[in-house]
This record gives sequence, structure tokens and C-alpha cells, in this order.
Amino acid sequence: MKGLILSGGKGTRLYPITYNRAKQLVPVANKPVLIRVIEAIKEAGINEIGIVIGDTGDEIRHAVGAGRRWGVDVTYIEQDAPLGLAHAVKISQDFLGDDRFVMFLGDNVIEGGISQLISEFAESEWNSQIVLTEVDEPQHYGVAELGDDRQIVRLVEKPRHPVSNLALVGIYMFDHHVFEAVHAIQPSWRGELEITDAIQWLVDNDYRVHPYVHRGWWIDTGKPIDMLDANNRVLAELTHKVEGYVDRSSRIDHLVTVEAGAEVINSVIRGPAIIGEDSRIVNSYVGPFTSIYHDTLIEDSEIEHSIVMDHSKIIGVPHRIEDSIIGRAVEVGSSPIKPKAYKMTLGDHSKIGVL
Ligand code: DAU
Repeated sequence: MKGLILSGGKGTRLYPITYNRAKQLVPVANKPVLIRVIEAIKEAGINEIGIVIGDTGDEIRHAVGAGRRWGVDVTYIEQDAPLGLAHAVKISQDFLGDDRFVMFLGDNVIEGGISQLISEFAESEWNSQIVLTEVDEPQHYGVAELGDDRQIVRLVEKPRHPVSNLALVGIYMFDHHVFEAVHAIQPSWRGELEITDAIQWLVDNDYRVHPYVHRGWWIDTGKPIDMLDANNRVLAELTHKVEGYVDRSSRIDHLVTVEAGAEVINSVIRGPAIIGEDSRIVNSYVGPFTSIYHDTLIEDSEIEHSIVMDHSKIIGVPHRIEDSIIGRAVEVGSSPIKPKAYKMTLGDHSKIGVL
């Protein structure tokens, strides 16, 4: 089997974090979501992976390279415009050939990996397997209606009035018949070739599509609040270890990871939390569900339930920072210069809450 990861598109819903960055590279518990996807596919025994890239392709190539670090062989497939998930399949036909494959959206995180799903599909005679899960707001997803026999009756992309609460998770398995489907369908109202319509075509043409209902957690990291949620879930599952330096006047608990080269000086860290490579926590408090990425400084400040990305500095902030996502090379601090006022340089679409 082969793997196909979709990493094109534009991360508009994650603005401003992804103004000029690939949303698939935003870190969750200090590891980009795309790398988590590559690891899940590799763990399922698949070594040949195609990655569909768009505007942010250069950044993705730079982060993943040929895939050797993860023991996989990566081929890049360029998509000129984000014309839909089925369009991405269409342009990947040369790479996929007649092999069965798993398609994984590069911004999805799922509990428990996909090894079991892949081996069931590999051994089955199904033409496709889709993954469904119960959600609270199905109108934001592809939605499936199952019959009394638990087989698929109908699939609709982002329906205004959903007929069920079963959403399509961003993991799909296909054989080569999917190419007939992606060539047969027409663009939807949003101008995209929908994979949901391609799967409906398979069902309508008597191909066997098996619906698997996933019971664990699944997070589509498309919105900032989802990033924090994914971060919480993954941090809680990590096996924590201390590889960096923690001085004697600091207190950290057993659910804390301190990565190599990181330093914790005169600080308190309550887990689950992770402090990235070459970051420094000085005279500070880092509370539960916080990920501090690499080369970042937190000094004389308190932070909890947040993600801070690389090369940022938080120094002398008088109130605790909570529920925040702080991008790369951001500086947050108190200013000694009068008048005493908030002084900000914020990019478009930034959001801040002041006391
Ligand atoms: O997350 C699950 C949902 O993903 C499903 O329930 C929906 O049925 C499915 O259509 C999809 O909906 P989204 O609107 O969330 O998809 P989005 O546009 O966010 O794209 C998902 C990923 O695929 C993202 O990593 C970008 C990439 N992509 C997207 C498009 C439209 C591409 O690589 N090329 C594209 O043309």
C-alpha cells in the first residue's frame, strides 16, 4: 500500500497563525501535525508516501525532505490551486498507480494511530474504507447516513441540515476504482471536487465502501481552539522525560518533558507540559497543558494551557497568560518606558484579551 498526505490548501481558519505558514506544520505537543501523520502511516507499515503541496510547498519540503528521518520515501505532488480533496487524488494518479492507498489529511490528529484500520483494509475485498466519528456540529464536516444494516446510504459535504452526527474523519482508504469516481464527479457549490462526492459515486456504482466508526478522539486542527484541544490530548498521552537541565530550586512533576538543551531555572512546571529544545524557563511558572516549542524564553512570567512557538520571548508579564497560541518569534513583555500603557505591534487578524 501507499500513503497520500494532503498538505496543500490555505489555512485561512487558523489565521493569523498561518498567514505565511503551512497549517500542517503548526506544532502540537512540540511536533508538527504533518510529522505526526507521517509517523502514523509509517507505523502502519507503509513506506512510500506522496505529499500533495500547494502555496506553502517550499516550507513543507524543507521540514520533511526526502523522509529519511522517519524511514519513509517521500514524493511531492504539486497542486496549482486548492481545487478539492478529490482533485488532489486526481493529480496523484501517476504516483499511486494501481496500488491500494490510504489518504490522510495533513491537519488531522487521531487517537490510537491507523495500523489496525490499514491491515483490515489491506486484507479485505472492500474498494474503500472510510472513517466516521460522532461530532457535535456535523454541519462543518462531510456527513454520513448509515442504514439499519450499518452500510452507507448517503454522504453529504457540510450539509446545512445534517441527517446524522457521523462526520467523515480525514482518513480514507481506496483502491484504483477511486480514479473512475474522481473523473466522473463535478465541482461542488464551493467550486471544489469533493472526496465526499467521489465516495458517494463509488457507493452509487455498487463498489464496496466500508464505514468504520472510530470511538476514540479525533481532532481536525483547522481552528485555533482545536489546536489547544489537540495539544491537551497529545500532552496527556506522552511518555514524559527530562533530557535538559533543571536546577535545584525548580520544581517539576513527572508529567513534564524537558527536551535536550532546555534549561529550567528557579521555576515551577506542572504537567502535562513540554519544554522544547534549547528553550529557557527562568523565574517562571508553566502550568498544565502547555507546550513551549524550541529556542524560546519565558522569564519572570506565568503561562498555562497555551502553545508557544519557536524563537519567542515572554518576559516580565505581570498577569498569567492562559488559553493562548503564540506564534514564532513573538515578543511579549512589560515596558519600562512611560506612559504606562499597552504597546502592541500586532499582525492582521491577531486577537488579544486585556484585563
Ligand atoms: O477534517 C475532516 C473533513 O475534511 C471532512 O469531514 C470533510 O468531508 C472534508 O471535505 C474535509 O473538509 P475541510 O473543509 O476541513 O478540508 P480542508 O479544506 O481544511 O482541507 C483538508 C486538508 O487537505 C488540509 O490539510 C489542506 C488539504 N488540501 C485541501 C484542499 C481543498 C489540499 O491539499 N488540497 C486541496 O485542494
